[in-house]
Amino acid sequence: MKVIISVLLLSCIVFISSCYYDKEDLLYGGANSAPCTDSVGTVSYAQKIVPLLQQYCYSCHTGSFPSGNELMGTYTSDKAMAQNGKLFGTVNHSTGFSPMPKGMPKMTTCQIATIRKWIDTGMLNN
Ligand code: HEC
Repeated sequence: MKVIISVLLLSCIVFISSCYYDKEDLLYGGANSAPCTDSVGTVSYAQKIVPLLQQYCYSCHTGSFPSGNELMGTYTSDKAMAQNGKLFGTVNHSTGFSPMPKGMPKMTTCQIATIRKWIDTGMLNN
């Protein structure tokens, strides 16, 4: 009897969580479920990462007095931030990191996945 109840409960949970994702797709107008081609294969630093960081980060994190004393804007500095985990931690809004870009909406799932892929494939200067 207990087993049957557990199985029923489990299928309820699975059912409810599948509904949750359906709703999420609706909420985001399907934008998040569009194929994320940028994060497929090799991610080019120059062609994919720099434009993203330029749009979302460089305005505050370049120059002589970068915000939070966190310098970005060159391959060396961007790679250093990726290596110490802060690049992904901040854009992914992971616990223990200050959420970035500051005062702006979170980057899209695809943009974050693209950054993740660049990091996971060795942060190439390509
Ligand atoms: C509007 C200005 C602004 C923008 C845009 C911005 N930042 Fe920041 N950032 C700050 C300020 C101010 C701080 C220091 C205060 C704090 O940590 O919240 C900071 C701190 C940080 C830190 C240190 C936080 C920690 O938890 O150690 C990192 C890493 C960082 N930013 C990365 C980024 C990245 C990556 C982007 C782009 C996705 C970005 N920032 C965009 C203003 C900005």
